[in-house]
Amino acid sequence: MTHEWSPSSWRTKPARQQVAYPSESAVADVFSRLSRLPPLVTSWEIETLKSELAAAARGEMFLLQGGDCCESFDDCQSPNIAAKLKILLQMSVVLIYGCRKPVIRAGRFAGQFAKPRSSETETRGDATLPVYRGDLINRRAFTLEDRRPDPELLLRGYERAGLTLNFIRSLVEGGFADLHHPEYWDLGFVSHSPQAAEYHSIVQSISDAISLMESVAGADIRQLKRAEFYTSHEGLHLPYEESQTRQVPRRTGWYNLTTHFPWIGDRTRALDEAHVEYFRGIRNPIGVKIGPSITGQELVQLIRVLDPEQEPGRLTLIHRFGADQIAESLPALIEAVQNEQRTVLWCCDPMHGNTTTTADGLKTRRFESILSELEEAFAIHERAGSILGGVHFELTGENVTECTGGARGLKDSDLREAYKSAVDPRLNYEQAMEMALLITHRMNRNRSR
Ligand code: PEP
Ligand code: CO
Repeated sequence: MTHEWSPSSWRTKPARQQVAYPSESAVADVFSRLSRLPPLVTSWEIETLKSELAAAARGEMFLLQGGDCCESFDDCQSPNIAAKLKILLQMSVVLIYGCRKPVIRAGRFAGQFAKPRSSETETRGDATLPVYRGDLINRRAFTLEDRRPDPELLLRGYERAGLTLNFIRSLVEGGFADLHHPEYWDLGFVSHSPQAAEYHSIVQSISDAISLMESVAGADIRQLKRAEFYTSHEGLHLPYEESQTRQVPRRTGWYNLTTHFPWIGDRTRALDEAHVEYFRGIRNPIGVKIGPSITGQELVQLIRVLDPEQEPGRLTLIHRFGADQIAESLPALIEAVQNEQRTVLWCCDPMHGNTTTTADGLKTRRFESILSELEEAFAIHERAGSILGGVHFELTGENVTECTGGARGLKDSDLREAYKSAVDPRLNYEQAMEMALLITHRMNRNRSR
């Protein structure tokens, strides 16, 4: 790919999962309004994240990426946003303790509003309508009116992303994410969950370590007062992404300023298509989801196109094979990257290869399959002399019932109780904490070997 890149050069390529709006001129109008709005993030933050991801690729930090499969506009409310921060913060504390490394927190939030779909339409009874593609594009209710793509939603989504991020930044600035004060970010029902005692003893150890460090240093350690959060989302809707792709003073190149860390989905990563074309030209660190269909050769070509300068922290490969498939798929890909002498950040998404449907038609995932893929991922990387430097989850700080299993042994028949996700099933609060604790056990086991 040697041709000139521009924020709109993707428009010359075939683009999957794009939206056919009823009026192109209405889309153009929204695009120009969007591109005049101030950005959501800055290039400084983006560059800082890139250097941290580079450290994770070297094994010096660890990436925790997580959040909803699909954010909804209705959930743009203070309790939901605070719960998203709390669960990431709590998991990160457990992981810091487990891997003895700083943890990078990247939410699937403030822009995770657009979904790739496997079918253009959805049928219920006799009625067939356009499929729901996320709140950025159409509405969830099953009427023709609601399912019609509406470009104004791009503006509503951008505003909600801005409101979400504003609240996150204020909470962090105000001391909510102060590691000295775990009580600020305790989630209400932690006290009666099966993992409460272990979690609290980890928090106590960390508090003791902080006090010890501070008494040795003779001062507060400022970084501990404000844990940082980065935003990430699938960069699926290319006009939305393009509208905030900008040059900034005193830096070269173009930044996508809707988010710190956009990723390309598994369905849209074809080498000569629009998403790869768009992503290759931005300066952000980027992720690529890779599933069982990719070959080592394709992966190497993608790496060459997306990271031609071999820039540390530039590229995160988020693999998502499924517990049954990872042993077959991953080793050859690691080998291909090693033969090419490339450094990438490897991150395991143990969610998207493990989706099943219950007898009564609910999408679900088994906790045990998720854990098993993750355990395999750690083991395969270790055997290959590679580093698994991050994990990627669909999770929520709320008490939903979408995935089965875990310490409470949720069954298929329990799922209807509190199933809220519009798209993929998420680990609930307790399952997410349990997952973090089990990863920690594994890391501790390795260290003591
Ligand atoms: C997702 O992350 O919600 C998603 C659709 O993932 P993938 O591209 O890996 O299927
Ligand atoms: Co998903």
